[in-house]
Amino acid sequence: MKKILVTGGTGYIGSHTIVELLENDREVVAVDDFSNSKEDVIEKIKKITGKDFKFYNVDYLKKEKIEKIFQENEIDAVINFAGYKAVAESIKEPLKYYKNNVCGAINLLEVMQEHGVKKFVFSSSATVYGNQNCSKYTENMERGHASSPYGTTKIMIEKILEDLYFSDNTWNIAILRYFNPVGAHESGLIGENPQGIPNNLMPFIMKVANKEIDCLNIFGNDYKETKDGTCARDFLHVVDLAKGHIKALEKLDKEKNGIFVYNLGTGNPYTVQEMVETFKKVNNVDVPYKYAPRRSGDLPIFYSDPTKAKEELNWTAEKTIEDMCKDSWNFVVKNKNN
Ligand code: UD1
Repeated sequence: MKKILVTGGTGYIGSHTIVELLENDREVVAVDDFSNSKEDVIEKIKKITGKDFKFYNVDYLKKEKIEKIFQENEIDAVINFAGYKAVAESIKEPLKYYKNNVCGAINLLEVMQEHGVKKFVFSSSATVYGNQNCSKYTENMERGHASSPYGTTKIMIEKILEDLYFSDNTWNIAILRYFNPVGAHESGLIGENPQGIPNNLMPFIMKVANKEIDCLNIFGNDYKETKDGTCARDFLHVVDLAKGHIKALEKLDKEKNGIFVYNLGTGNPYTVQEMVETFKKVNNVDVPYKYAPRRSGDLPIFYSDPTKAKEELNWTAEKTIEDMCKDSWNFVVKNKNN
């Protein structure tokens, strides 16, 4: 059976997607350079699924090493998760982000083209919509201006993929725009484990609940647009998100060629305050917080219209906000000594 190449395979979303691929009897080859993940994720994925897969410790900027993987394996499709994703860091070090995310994607696409592999799933982000003064985002809206170099790399790669398809319409591409992924696999073996002080909400809540950080700052409680004055986001469970990739691959298997864009979100926004209260309640832990000034660049409310993914991929997020909070905490509890 031809294999699915997963770049960034030991990262947060990559690892959960490999679990789903293996559970759907797909053969997997994974690549990662552990720049933001740990080697033990490989064994954990094997433990969860009881299945094996080939792994290469490779930086995807090293084109000759990617070529070797294509020579050694019969690749059917590539899912590209490799990429840096820390918004604040990208503002401080833009060249690092453009080089890694954009050049890495181009390397991959070049090697794919040389080997006649034209099925590509790209890990994009809702950040590509930018600030358009609206709250619910549909795929046919124009891309906006991203608020960071990280977001701009996603916009640039989406554009590269469109131009590539325009130049050669035998390509078969799915662009998946994620909203706010949270949660962890229910086994507690894999999840999100950022080093240092996290920027995103759920990793921060987890560190406060685990007493590694004293207090959560809730950035802004005076937003008129939301029910309790704190920002609202379309949080979705990472396992639902991973399943969206399987559905996207199935779509590409059926279509033979095209370029398809899908929002992956629940379509139901929850506020920061609701997230914190739910986390405390379902896990019976304390999460001390205080209200702090608004964070620059934050939109009051931002969520998906997930209709297209439902109609064309037969994908809907199934897990609840309670599942997201429970599974995130379970991952912390199970990994306390690591
Ligand atoms: C952020 C990025 C986005 C990226 C996404 C990845 C910004 C402006 N946007 O989205 O480009 O694709 O992460 O998941 O950084 N919050 C607090 N206290 C905290 C942390 C967050 O109140 O300590 C609030 C934020 O103000 C925001 C909400 O929680 O209202 C969600 O924040 P976050 O998890 O960083 O996600 P986004 O800002 O939506």
